[in-house]
Amino acid sequence: MKSRASAPGKIILFGEHFVVYGVKAILCAINKRVIVTAEKITENKISIKSSIGNLVSSPKKPIEEIDNQFRPFYYLADKIIQKYNEKSGLEITINSEIPLGVGLGSSSACCVASAAAISGVFTKNSKEEILQMAIDAEKTIFPNTSGADSTVCTYGGLMQYDKKNGYSAIDSENNFDLIIANSKIRHSTKEVVSNVKLFQERNEEKFSKICNEESKLIEDVLICIKNNDLEGIGRNMIKNQEFLETIGVSNEKLRDMIKLSNKFSFGAKLTGAGNGGCIFSLTDETNLEKTIRQLKENEYECFSVKIDFRGLDTF
Ligand code: MEV
Repeated sequence: MKSRASAPGKIILFGEHFVVYGVKAILCAINKRVIVTAEKITENKISIKSSIGNLVSSPKKPIEEIDNQFRPFYYLADKIIQKYNEKSGLEITINSEIPLGVGLGSSSACCVASAAAISGVFTKNSKEEILQMAIDAEKTIFPNTSGADSTVCTYGGLMQYDKKNGYSAIDSENNFDLIIANSKIRHSTKEVVSNVKLFQERNEEKFSKICNEESKLIEDVLICIKNNDLEGIGRNMIKNQEFLETIGVSNEKLRDMIKLSNKFSFGAKLTGAGNGGCIFSLTDETNLEKTIRQLKENEYECFSVKIDFRGLDTF
């Protein structure tokens, strides 16, 4: 029997970095997906096939012996084989439309879709159970993950998150267009987060003032989302980008892509850790094509996405 599942990628709309210091963040799922197929095989092996490579390994190996890129999927497959005391093995195939390693949630989407597909070979689980499996799997590569990405990949739509109150869905039918442009500069989230920590320690008062401003901005964004006020959301994106510039997580290429996007879109900012990765701009049918043209004429890779309201899908 084949079990299949798909999960969307995500972007952080507002609040990256400041969320680490307790400020609220707003995230949304995007309609670029990962599809995972899992199937029993007669041999007692775990086989993983993906665009970044293949792995064939026997079960029951210590997780540290497995290459980082395969760890979450090996972990999930091995766990379920042990749970059901299976003598057969599993073959897992991962296909992704989400660019890897640039802050678009490819890793979380893979974990969520894999947890659903792999467990689906044996039994049916609730979304809550699948999310917990996905977070446990993701912890084999990011031990400190907040779980925010996997949560939005599981449920889809728009979501607010803060450390104290956790996640809650933002009730919204908004379906604006977002244009994502990829700087193709790979970044280390861990490194950028520790640079921000240094900035915070050296500029305590200034940093705490920016956090307060960011909190106010986020509350205003929530009102703008409710009123479908794209200009208001765009204005806040531009302001949020200024805060991110101040704490030192931007660079020349990101600034150039943002400047080009701002010519026609409602607003643009970086998303995720910064210092590389992606920026996104907010558009609708009046300025979508013009913004894309502007970026492409300057040889930047970009594509448009919409909010994904489906979340995890099993089929
Ligand atoms: C990275 O995608 C988001 C950051 O805010 C880090 C984090 O929240 O763990 C930069």
